Amino acid sequence: MRFYILTLFPEMVMSGLCTSIIGKAAEKGILDIEAVNIRDFTKDRHQKADDYPYGGGAGMVMQAQPIYDAYQSVAARLGRRPRTVYLTPQGPVFTQRMAKELAREEALVFLCGHYEGVDERVLEEIVTDPVSIGDYVLTGGELPAMVMVDAISRMVPGVLTNEESGAFESFEGNLLEYPQYTRPADWNGKMVPDVLLSGDHGRIGQWRREQSILRTKRYRPDLLEGAELTIKEKAVYGVNDW
Ligand code: ADE
Repeated sequence: MRFYILTLFPEMVMSGLCTSIIGKAAEKGILDIEAVNIRDFTKDRHQKADDYPYGGGAGMVMQAQPIYDAYQSVAARLGRRPRTVYLTPQGPVFTQRMAKELAREEALVFLCGHYEGVDERVLEEIVTDPVSIGDYVLTGGELPAMVMVDAISRMVPGVLTNEESGAFESFEGNLLEYPQYTRPADWNGKMVPDVLLSGDHGRIGQWRREQSILRTKRYRPDLLEGAELTIKEKAVYGVNDW
């Protein structure tokens, strides 16, 4: 899986992504992460990549040409036009489902905007997927791109160990993950729930499912609509599906 991140801040992106699990997968060659510096493609004498907005208004707008040439340099190397994500609060909100779907691509380009925005004409030309990471405004697309690369990478076969990827995860079946505990069983007088020490895997499984449903109902009731609950579970946990 290849990620190309078009950005004015390549160091920020690379330092954020080249540590921990994602960094290890990159070292192993399962992932290839490249930050492409948009400024390297400017034709301006002063290395400028932005200019004033037509029609007036505050802030600067990133120019089309350096972005387009940066994108073309990637497309030329791949020999095709790759799927291209533009990080923007105006896109549909990123979900686990999208992460899984995007993880099936061989290559992805991420365009990180800055200032007041990006010249619309280059967006029309190259963007296939505008995506937001949530309903708030950040100063640039770098953090959102890093969030997406992390979430997508976890879904690429070989990035997580078998143990890590076999684990139940939040959002599986639209439920949040159950609580986890490790040793000691008594920490400052707070005990691990008895059932987890029982060795009874049937009861443990039941308890975990119950905790998942209760947590989802409490913190993310919006998710429950799409969760697969049995009729009995709906009755027991008071979940309506109308
Ligand atoms: N750029 C600025 N804010 C953003 C957000 N919430 N998601 C994606 N890109 C952004």
